[in-house]
Amino acid sequence: MPQPLTARRSAPISGRVKVPGDKSISHRALILAGLAIGRTRIEGLLEADDVMVTARAMQALGAAVSRSGAAFEVLGQGVGGLARADGVLDFGNSGTASRLMLGVLAGYPMRVVLTGDASLCRRPMSRVLKPLAEMGLMVEGNKDTLPLTVEGTQDLLPIVYELPVPSAQVKSAILLAGLHAPGRTTVIEPLPTRDHTERMLRFFGAEVDVKTREDGTRAVTVGGNAELTGAHVVVPGDPSSAAFLVAAALVCPGSDLVIENVLLNPTRTGFFETLRDMGADIEILRQHEEAGEPIGDLHIRSSDLKGVRVPPERAPSMIDEYPMLAALAAFAHGETRMEGLAELKVKESDRLAATAAGLAACGVEAHIEGDDLIVSGTGTVQGGGLVETQMDHRIAMAFLTLGLGAEEPVTVDDIGMIATSFPAFLPLMSGLGAQLG
Ligand code: S3P
Repeated sequence: MPQPLTARRSAPISGRVKVPGDKSISHRALILAGLAIGRTRIEGLLEADDVMVTARAMQALGAAVSRSGAAFEVLGQGVGGLARADGVLDFGNSGTASRLMLGVLAGYPMRVVLTGDASLCRRPMSRVLKPLAEMGLMVEGNKDTLPLTVEGTQDLLPIVYELPVPSAQVKSAILLAGLHAPGRTTVIEPLPTRDHTERMLRFFGAEVDVKTREDGTRAVTVGGNAELTGAHVVVPGDPSSAAFLVAAALVCPGSDLVIENVLLNPTRTGFFETLRDMGADIEILRQHEEAGEPIGDLHIRSSDLKGVRVPPERAPSMIDEYPMLAALAAFAHGETRMEGLAELKVKESDRLAATAAGLAACGVEAHIEGDDLIVSGTGTVQGGGLVETQMDHRIAMAFLTLGLGAEEPVTVDDIGMIATSFPAFLPLMSGLGAQLG
């Protein structure tokens, strides 16, 4: 049953909060912990549906995952040491879990069936299946979507692969497979994508080499037949979840908000950079490093925003934040042109279309030109619309946040999927003063 929810114009969003752990890092921590020798302790793991799917998959493959107070412990089986999984691996809504785990499974001579929910079963898998097949993964049928049956091999080949799309999921799947191959596996990326896999592989003791080449592309190489050792991982706050709180503070006049311990890895901060270009008052405090990742506190005060051009090369560093940015652009003065958004069409929904439709439902002038989204901001947003979330958590949260600053209430048709990435969204927002209900 769909669960609709309405957001109303709110008083200032003020206080000091922490957002839950980063989703990308949480997936990787569970996977690398399962592939390491010995015990890994993970603090701050995101307890959301998507991440639990990865925990269950690793458990089905023989890596014991257990709770230890507020932390999680994983008993790793070593690279090559995972066991045969009985039955089907169900990845729910999670593209990251399914694609990264395909990379892991490539190294094991066992037949595995992978499936997911209706949204995941529409998303392209050939982007990972193609390089993994070059390495030796067998894929039954000529399919691009889940459900899929695959069979890996102990005799994977190391490859050099240039990414045709800027995707950290594809890069990570190849690097994870590369751990199980002899020799060195290299991924070349034309634009930098999030580098948590590289950082965490190093943290667990793998040999990883990253080179920026003369033409500006990056070559990431992992040493094969790797030996990983259990580690102590502290997962920083998710900047993609913080984005909604930041946006709420920007659009509700008089807001003054501090978000503590947010991941500030430069491959993830495009949204904050863009907001600063738009004139947002965002300060970074207490910057430091933890478990190989830069983190800090964000101090946000409500601000008058102006429209900007967001260049295509910034897209990978803020790919999940475009629905929220587009909604914020509606509150800005002038045009915001977000360029090079082809990858948005293959997310949990066609986010380019879903965002444009949501904006139209809220009385905002927006249109798509090729792969670009153009929003004409007038400083105020009428609201009053019903937004279709299309099984997409980020569409739901972006438009609820828009509703906090709009003239008329905004209703989203289903908040069920928010639990995939940010189950605490409603209590956290409400606790800060957001009118949701
Ligand atoms: C992710 C990478 C991104 C992002 C997704 C998480 C990851 O996808 O949209 O939410 O953890 O690697 P792509 O790498 O496919 O762009």
